[in-house]
Amino acid sequence: MVTPQRLENQLTDKGYVPVYTTAVVEQPWDSYTATDHEVWATLFKRQRELLAGRACDEFIQSQEAMGMGAGAIPKFAELNRLLRDSTGWELIGVQGLLPELTFFEHLANRRFPVTWWIRKPEQLDYLAEPDLFHDLFGHVPLLMNPVFADYMQAYGCGGVKAHGIGPEALAQLTRLYWYTVEFGLIKTDAGLRIYGSGIVSSKGESLHCLDSAAPNRIGFDLLRVMRTRYRIDTYQKTYFVIDSFEQLFDATRPDFTPYYDQLAKQETIPAGEVLASDAMFNRGTGEGWLTDGDV
Ligand code: PHE
Ligand code: CO
Repeated sequence: MVTPQRLENQLTDKGYVPVYTTAVVEQPWDSYTATDHEVWATLFKRQRELLAGRACDEFIQSQEAMGMGAGAIPKFAELNRLLRDSTGWELIGVQGLLPELTFFEHLANRRFPVTWWIRKPEQLDYLAEPDLFHDLFGHVPLLMNPVFADYMQAYGCGGVKAHGIGPEALAQLTRLYWYTVEFGLIKTDAGLRIYGSGIVSSKGESLHCLDSAAPNRIGFDLLRVMRTRYRIDTYQKTYFVIDSFEQLFDATRPDFTPYYDQLAKQETIPAGEVLASDAMFNRGTGEGWLTDGDV
């Protein structure tokens, strides 16, 4: 496999992270090895089995509609034909995490950056940065959902704006992304289901977020979420539950400028804290929680 071009480390709210070239790259599909395809197949089968009855129907149905399967690493160009016709999104290949503003600008134009390389067989359970499995298996299916597709674009526009306002606004908006796009749960008639990409692409967290007594599960409240710190190296201490993608999009539709002013006067909330005003689904036992390390 071609080696991704890592440039240097850059200090972000997630510590030092590798920064790659921001260029859009052609997915080097022919360079994937048999091992790369096997890693995809193993992870794909494992997660799909685990996600039956755990992921929301919209996720599973969209993934099927895109024709993603265990057979081989999907070709971005093929997925793009379907995506363009359904919601007008387009996947672009990238080397890895992008600088925030570049990322927001892509989303604002309905372009979703997908890391082209896949993890190694010894990294099936955990890896510190997004790879092709996380991005493609985790994020791409819901881009077929019209409401979620619009939410992601609006988030990108909001990101460009928050970036111009300042680092606090950006941190608050990033918390929203974390607790919805990456680690969101949704309430359905059949019970709580997963829609967050960081969960669906992780075996451990797919189980933990629904089956463990440790975490809090709290009804979604925009300003509460934007104040809540989070975990990057352990399972989440708290998950926020939306009623529907419409609820999420409606709550985030207003101009956030006054929200940022209001939030500037308030403290952040530790990842595991429960407030009297929270709409609780479950209060977590806190078992196994590390006391520090919220970002
Ligand atoms: N409405 C938000 C703003 O004005 C943008 C946004 C939309 C943010 C959807 C997140 C999700 O900043
Ligand atoms: Co992600």
